[in-house]
Amino acid sequence: MDYAKRVHNIPPYLFAKLEQIISELKKQNKELISLSIGDPDLAPPLVIRKAIADFALMETTHNYSSSQGENEFREAIVRFMKNRFNVDISIENVCSLLGSKEGLANIARVYLNPNDQALVPDPAYPVYQQGATILCDSIPVIFPLHEENEFLPDLSSLKFDKKRTKMLYLNYPNNPTGAVATKKFMKELADFCDDNDIIVCYDNAYSELTFDNYRAESLLQYTDNAIEFFSLSKMFCMTGSRIGFAVGREDIIKGLIKVKSNIDSGNPIYLQKAAIVGLDLYKQNSIPKEVELIKKEYARRRNYFVKALNKLGFHVNLPKGTFYLWVRLKEEDGNSSEEFVKKCIEKGVLFVPGRGYGNNGEGYFRVALTQPMDKLQRAIELLSQ
Ligand SMILES: Cc1ncc(COP(=O)(O)O)c(C=O)c1O
Repeated sequence: MDYAKRVHNIPPYLFAKLEQIISELKKQNKELISLSIGDPDLAPPLVIRKAIADFALMETTHNYSSSQGENEFREAIVRFMKNRFNVDISIENVCSLLGSKEGLANIARVYLNPNDQALVPDPAYPVYQQGATILCDSIPVIFPLHEENEFLPDLSSLKFDKKRTKMLYLNYPNNPTGAVATKKFMKELADFCDDNDIIVCYDNAYSELTFDNYRAESLLQYTDNAIEFFSLSKMFCMTGSRIGFAVGREDIIKGLIKVKSNIDSGNPIYLQKAAIVGLDLYKQNSIPKEVELIKKEYARRRNYFVKALNKLGFHVNLPKGTFYLWVRLKEEDGNSSEEFVKKCIEKGVLFVPGRGYGNNGEGYFRVALTQPMDKLQRAIELLSQ
């Protein structure tokens, strides 16, 4: 039986060849330090791990929840939005997610009919284009993020078919570039939401991972006309727990809940309860000490690795957000990010080729600072050879 067309429409997996090389190296027991995947090596804060254990031990926390989430979890999200962003919402504006990835993909099922269009940045987290748009038999319309413009799009120059374009995805602090949104840009984006009949999906998965006194804002501070996605994965190093949430305009959230209620049955109740403990660490206008510790560690790694790469002849600035570095290849390395990454694998270090995030990612590679300092130092040693 052949796969459905939509599955064939997903572009070939860029990492297939790289994975072959990696498994070959592993067989030979060769050293390989992976700075590729955005999966924190740090453990979630102890208070959350204890809460998971305590709530999982209870007899009453193992039934189905609901796809929109327990009311007590949604109420904690309402408190978080108020304490963290001074945004007033109610639980009707909230839906829990099995990680924000799932929500970013499922929201497309709410709005995209076959052959509709979604505006998707390039470079970008691949889910917008593939899991969301292509798997809804729809067409991703790419708009570029350029380094000259701090990887922010020029919304006034966006060209799109008004009848067929239903959605737009954006993400700041940005994976893969580490770029952050300015207040001016947030205002422009809010105007775009208010002036166009397009569902803006603002992916704020890295809202808590920012540096140098920059604090990410919520799009809901500027407009009610959007949906925003948050993740506990990066906020509390909880990638494996698969928990996040969407907040936004009530009818958009209702649509998402309708789709999800036909697909999933919600997060485990004990995880939602532990997530409440995490979100309630946020008091008005302050950053919890647990999150400060995580940020401090990533800032230390960022400062070290940027300096070390610059010493190796790259030109990298200190990003204000995320735990990624987005590095332009040196002229002498040519323009193929895949070839460059292969060379680094041979030296024992794994990065992601920029091309994996779209055509505009060509000529760059992404570093994930999700390894401890000694591994980062060793990686620089290996790259220097
Ligand atoms: C930009 C962006 N959005 C969303 C996600 C999904 O995170 P999760 O599904 O773990 O919440 C990721 C994960 O790497 C990401 O980089």
